[in-house]
Amino acid sequence: MMGVANLVATLVVTASLVTEAVVAQSTADILNQLQANGVNITLLNSTSTPTPRSQNGCSLLSYALVKLFPTKTLISSESGFANWTESFWSQQQEEVTPQSIFKPANPIDVSSAVLLAELFSCPFAVKSGGHAAFSGASNIQGGLSIDLGALDSISLSKDQTVASAGAGNVWVDVYDYLEPYGLSVIGGRVSTIGLGGLTTGGGISFFSQEYGWACDNVVNYELVLASGLIIDVNQSSYPDLYWALRGGGNNFGIVTRFDLSTHVQGSLWSGSLIYLSTYSDQAIDAFYNYGINAASDPKSAVIMNWAYTQGQFLAVADLEYANATINPPIFQNFTAISAYENTLEVRTLPEVTAMFQESNPDGLRESYWTATFAFTKEMITYCVETFETEVVRAANATGYLPALVLQVISTDMTTQMQKNGGNALGLSPSDGNLLLLNLSFMWEDIADDNLILNILGTITSKTIAYAKANGLYNEYLYMNYASQYQAVIPSYGTTNFNKLKSVSAKYDPFQVFQKLQPGYFKLSTAAPNTTYPA
Ligand SMILES: Cc1cc2nc3c(=O)[nH]c(=O)nc-3n(C[C@H](O)[C@H](O)[C@H](O)COP(=O)(O)OP(=O)(O)OC[C@H]3O[C@@H](n4cnc5c(N)ncnc54)[C@H](O)[C@@H]3O)c2cc1C
Ligand SMILES: *[C@@H]1O[C@H](CO)[C@@H](O)[C@H](O)[C@H]1NC(C)=O
Ligand SMILES: *[C@@H]1O[C@H](CO)[C@@H](O)[C@H](O)[C@H]1NC(C)=O
Ligand SMILES: *[C@@H]1O[C@H](CO)[C@@H](O)[C@H](O)[C@H]1NC(C)=O
Ligand SMILES: *[C@@H]1O[C@H](CO)[C@@H](O)[C@H](O)[C@H]1NC(C)=O
Ligand SMILES: *[C@@H]1O[C@H](CO)[C@@H](O)[C@H](O)[C@H]1NC(C)=O
Ligand SMILES: *[C@@H]1O[C@H](CO)[C@@H](O)[C@H](O)[C@H]1NC(C)=O
Ligand SMILES: *[C@@H]1O[C@H](CO)[C@@H](O)[C@H](O)[C@H]1NC(C)=O
Ligand SMILES: *[C@@H]1O[C@H](CO)[C@@H](O)[C@H](O)[C@H]1NC(C)=O
Ligand SMILES: *[C@@H]1O[C@H](CO)[C@@H](O)[C@H](O)[C@H]1NC(C)=O
Repeated sequence: MMGVANLVATLVVTASLVTEAVVAQSTADILNQLQANGVNITLLNSTSTPTPRSQNGCSLLSYALVKLFPTKTLISSESGFANWTESFWSQQQEEVTPQSIFKPANPIDVSSAVLLAELFSCPFAVKSGGHAAFSGASNIQGGLSIDLGALDSISLSKDQTVASAGAGNVWVDVYDYLEPYGLSVIGGRVSTIGLGGLTTGGGISFFSQEYGWACDNVVNYELVLASGLIIDVNQSSYPDLYWALRGGGNNFGIVTRFDLSTHVQGSLWSGSLIYLSTYSDQAIDAFYNYGINAASDPKSAVIMNWAYTQGQFLAVADLEYANATINPPIFQNFTAISAYENTLEVRTLPEVTAMFQESNPDGLRESYWTATFAFTKEMITYCVETFETEVVRAANATGYLPALVLQVISTDMTTQMQKNGGNALGLSPSDGNLLLLNLSFMWEDIADDNLILNILGTITSKTIAYAKANGLYNEYLYMNYASQYQAVIPSYGTTNFNKLKSVSAKYDPFQVFQKLQPGYFKLSTAAPNTTYPA
């Protein structure tokens, strides 16, 4: 007879195989909450012996999940398991093989999964849209990967001011749902990005100058805590936790539903201008002048890219205007430059996100890195020059597609970030306009990892050193663009870092989301990977 007590006893010996032992809430408390969730805990006492493959907590958990939730669990012997591991955006995440995959159908299932992971001391990861790039961010080797994909409900409140969307949705599904009402929400710019990762890390949208980032437009989070309790978190119910969830990442619980503030939204003037390298300096000028003027036109958004492809440097201006205004004057400096290609036209939001999806194919090796600087022309120029100098070192790498992407975090955005009690990111309008660095590289061959990661690390270090030397540095690191070599949460500033740690201590006293969910950016001064690529 393999009782729960026996299972737990086995774990004390074997837990070190997978993670440092977690001091969890008592077994009795966990079992009580599981029972309250409707889980038949007597099934955990089984006469059959668990699979002998490896006697660790995760194989026992896998065995329990198959018994308790046969239709919601996938283990490696089953068809569908390999398909699932292929469902990530980056190859690095696809290479990770979990012990089991669990697909909750509702928040109670999510609660049960967390409790069972605690009971068996099995590390877990949580996947929404699966677009985080580095390995272990939303998939876990040998552990339990919880896929929120079936939490895909979407509804609109009677007064149409709030759209409620399950955390397993991708943005285009929400946009498609709202479009017939002439409404939208603040979310991702590429169709298949998940609500979960984008919103818990911040979330820059085409409409962020007018409304702030995605996290600033969540009126309520439905959240599963480490205790298994499911709570509604908003500014009046749990103001401290509400603040922490606005940028604090995966550290406080699993969000099962986002209630998002809607706004009236029709079609956009949107598209790209592609410039040959001879026009790169003019593109720098146009982008710099845009940054100065951005706040004067909150409907505008610009993503400025420098790319290297087939031995050529290109500059690409992605321009979006949150209205069907043809050729708005704010973009005149971009449209005045001779473009090799111009795709600007009026499009619906779902069409715009589908267009961006095309330039972001799945399944390649991917890495992105970030930094934040004061918005000056010398800083922009230094970023472009450093990118051009460094990227050619991997010129011959197969499928190599490096991009330097610059955006402005305008004072309009940071002003919007202060609403409803503010967010955790530590940015303020008094910082002035900021230059946000997004280095985004794709390649095909694992053999090129070291060289390419070194190039990314070198560009990042050099631009940061230059900024520091010239008084242009801002320590903020944007979680959604950060690499595994960057410590994101401390970059929110000491006050916010400490406040986040105390919110975590209050709502997750046993630190389940720190110890048992080790992937991605933790409440730690250490980066997820402390070995900077040499
Ligand atoms: C092609 C592409 C386009 C992008 N465009 C934008 C953009 O327009 N704006 C922008 O700001 N960013 C953008 N990003 C960055 C993007 O926001 C991050 O990659 C983000 O993490 C993706 O969210 P996801 O749910 O798809 O990722 P996932 O990999 O599923 O999740 C990322 C992290 O969030 C955690 N998480 C996910 N869901 C939850 C939840 N419900 N509760 C708690 N934790 C959760 C996961 O555990 C994981 O650690 C883009 C990225 C890519 C690859
Ligand atoms: C729980 O499982 C046990 C063992 O299979 C079974 O005898 C019992 O009827 C189940 N209880 C409920 C409420 O389904
Ligand atoms: C499991 O079995 C043991 C021993 O038979 C028993 O003491 C324990 O209460 C059972 N636990 C559950 C959750 O049924
Ligand atoms: C796996 O994916 C392939 C191709 O997308 C599909 O044909 C097949 O039905 C999938 N299998 C399962 C079990 O989902
Ligand atoms: C805020 O949370 C409380 C309970 O935690 C809930 O009753 C209330 O409806 C929530 N408010 C919003 C706006 O969702
Ligand atoms: C949006 O476009 C409509 C017509 O297409 C125009 O009347 C309106 O003034 C525009 N609003 C802004 C803010 O540009
Ligand atoms: C365009 O650039 C000029 C400088 O060349 C600048 O004075 C002007 O403000 C810019 N216009 C916009 C809308 O950015
Ligand atoms: C790329 O390959 C070409 C041709 O083989 C070679 O001349 C060049 O030096 C290589 N460049 C790099 C950076 O390795
Ligand atoms: C960085 O910008 C590029 C180009 O706009 C985009 O394709 C990529 O998704 C961005 N990276 C992230 C992490 O958003
Ligand atoms: C951390 O990064 C280094 C390269 O800098 C790499 O060799 C190592 O495998 C990475 N560690 C993990 C655990 O991914």
